[in-house]
Amino acid sequence: MTDDLAGLHAAPPVRAPLVGRPWGTTRLFIMAAAFLSGLAGTTLSSDLEVPTSGFASSPTKVQEPISPLPLSMPLDEGKVRLGERLFADSRLSSGNGISCASCHMPAFGMTDGRSISSGLPGYPGITNSLTILNVGFNTQFSWSGQTLSLEEQADKVIEAKRTMGGSWEEVVATLSGDDSVAAEFKQNFPDGVTRKNIVDSLVAYEKSLITPNAPFDRYLRGETDAISEDAKNGYQIFKDYGCVSCHQGINVGGNMMQVFGIFGSPPSITKGAETAGSAHGSGIADDKPVFRVPPLRNVADTAPYFHDGSAKSLSEAISLMATYQLGREISDDDVSKLESFLKSLSGDVSPVLSD
Ligand code: HEC
Ligand code: HEC
Repeated sequence: MTDDLAGLHAAPPVRAPLVGRPWGTTRLFIMAAAFLSGLAGTTLSSDLEVPTSGFASSPTKVQEPISPLPLSMPLDEGKVRLGERLFADSRLSSGNGISCASCHMPAFGMTDGRSISSGLPGYPGITNSLTILNVGFNTQFSWSGQTLSLEEQADKVIEAKRTMGGSWEEVVATLSGDDSVAAEFKQNFPDGVTRKNIVDSLVAYEKSLITPNAPFDRYLRGETDAISEDAKNGYQIFKDYGCVSCHQGINVGGNMMQVFGIFGSPPSITKGAETAGSAHGSGIADDKPVFRVPPLRNVADTAPYFHDGSAKSLSEAISLMATYQLGREISDDDVSKLESFLKSLSGDVSPVLSD
């Protein structure tokens, strides 16, 4: 969270495993089959059946730098449900009247829609909020990338002064005193309400927030007409110009650290390496801000953009990226095609979990 900035890890971040911990014993297959009828069962390896870059109608085997989200997730339904309940419970902020859901809202692609997150009285936010859709597929977390697992994030955020501002001791005591909540914990964990079990439930819920039916994923799975010609051209530009060298993998980002301002200094960078939200001691650059490359799934729904919310529209963010990350001015036509491609990355949350 914002309090991550206090230099929690001096060492450069390492790649964390995709899934932080083994799942519980009772497993639920959260199927997105309703959305994807006829497509379930398609191979999910990176060796995908996709149309060629020339958009031929017959699929050819090629290696794509972006892979589709899985159609199902082995998750413990009880823990997901409990996590969903806790996510909206303001008692997790010990009297601050704020819950996770206050800043991660479906209407804004699970962000808060503000340029800079509100924070708490006396502790204003210092960065834009991040989406938690598909968050289980990132390998490092927060703008600074210094948090290496969802468990670490959830554990820290409860007491982070700019976000929840709670106290673990109080949270565990209050929830233990609520018979209904305590009973639900007992059903899912033999040891009932504990700090670790609260964290595990929140993480299970977060991992359930997948959007596997995005048109672009359907296209990758072989549905040639799932995206427009503009979006196909936009994807080609995304690869040809090199956006994909930073925004790639299953989340189209979320898995590496990069300088913001490889060519010149973006207008929103006012404090160099000390810019709010940037990593400290990453070993990548001393004089420029370094961020985790943000994931671009559902990006059309998470305006405004960048660590400080300074880019109000997707087209503005795209142009600034071309200028400062690739050192090239791109035409309005390119911007618009890239935008079409990025819009095709939006999908709905798996229906099993959104009821
Ligand atoms: C006051 C607003 C606020 C509240 C409340 C809040 N968050 Fe956040 N969340 C943010 C902001 C801002 C960021 C980006 C912080 C940063 O990078 O320093 C963020 C980032 C995250 C991330 C990292 C996403 C990624 O891709 O790296 C996760 C996960 C997350 N929040 C989960 C939670 C959970 C769980 C709770 C409740 C226990 C919560 N948040 C409460 C504002 C909030
Ligand atoms: C060298 C690595 C790199 C390249 C190349 C790159 N990006 Fe980025 N991108 C980043 C980083 C780092 C950020 C975060 C900047 C910030 O927020 O301060 C970012 C942010 C973004 C955002 C805003 C996301 C959000 O949630 O706020 C969009 C949109 C984006 N990039 C699109 C593109 C496009 C389109 C291209 C190609 C024209 C591109 N990027 C090329 C590293 C890169």
